[in-house]
Amino acid sequence: MEIVVFGAGSLGSLVGGVLAREHDVTLVARPAHAEAVRIGGLTVTGAVDLHVSPSATTDSRGLAADLAIVTVKAADTPTAADALATGSFDAVLSLQNGMGNEETLADRLEPPVLAGTATYGAILQEPGVAECTGQGEVVLGTRTGGRAPLAERIGNAFDAAGLETTVAGDMPRRRWEKLAVNAAINPVTALSNVDNGAVLEPPAADLARSAAWETARVARACDVSLSDREATAAMERVAADTAANTSSMRQDVLAGRRTEIDAINGYVVDRAADHDCAVPTNRTLTALIRSWERGVGHR
Ligand code: PAF
Repeated sequence: MEIVVFGAGSLGSLVGGVLAREHDVTLVARPAHAEAVRIGGLTVTGAVDLHVSPSATTDSRGLAADLAIVTVKAADTPTAADALATGSFDAVLSLQNGMGNEETLADRLEPPVLAGTATYGAILQEPGVAECTGQGEVVLGTRTGGRAPLAERIGNAFDAAGLETTVAGDMPRRRWEKLAVNAAINPVTALSNVDNGAVLEPPAADLARSAAWETARVARACDVSLSDREATAAMERVAADTAANTSSMRQDVLAGRRTEIDAINGYVVDRAADHDCAVPTNRTLTALIRSWERGVGHR
């Protein structure tokens, strides 16, 4: 299968690297990373260990492939969609954090857009080298739920490359579950500058659980069946599997980049307001991260 990974940072490089064992992969990446991959190939270390030679480019326009996997930061989704619209793809799959990305892609693109979640821990160590800091899985399926041959085909292609993949018929619920995972782990680890495993221990555990419970409550208000226990169990499973990982939001803060707070905890706060739900933990975490972003000039 020909696959373009659009936004090959940490997660995109890990996923693209695994897929390149079996498929014809092109990474769309920042200049230094694209150049390093072109010259010396892509190395993945840690829980996944491989060296592959995918194509790599910084030119995101006019690309063509069977599948485009979108792994850009949530705030960059509209720009990614506009660039993808200049190319030709049979399907588009988002493996991004946060909510709203699939809708943005589907609004601007003709090919079918599938929903996906990824729970791998990943860090881009240096140009050309990504580290897998926690085994996870990819879950994918149709955006509104239900089965589709296209999703099965992509799931089979991922499996063939050894990428742990589940094709799910309940993506709306899975997306809210992943939202609870990110709402709990990302801002707590970013604000306290700790690895993901810290949310399993006091004093961070109470805060993380509260963020996950609130997210589950809002999911139910939006008619998605996600219990408090399911949300907490998912969060704790991912935190244990990626205990030594630096969450993507902590990576963003450490690098002085804008975070995905709007698409994660900010989304929970907005949907809670629609349904008159109280979400004090998500509201506080959102305000603290936004206040940091404002302080460093991102707002
Ligand atoms: O954003 C992240 O860092 C990741 O989604 C996850 C799965 C929480 C691992 O750190």
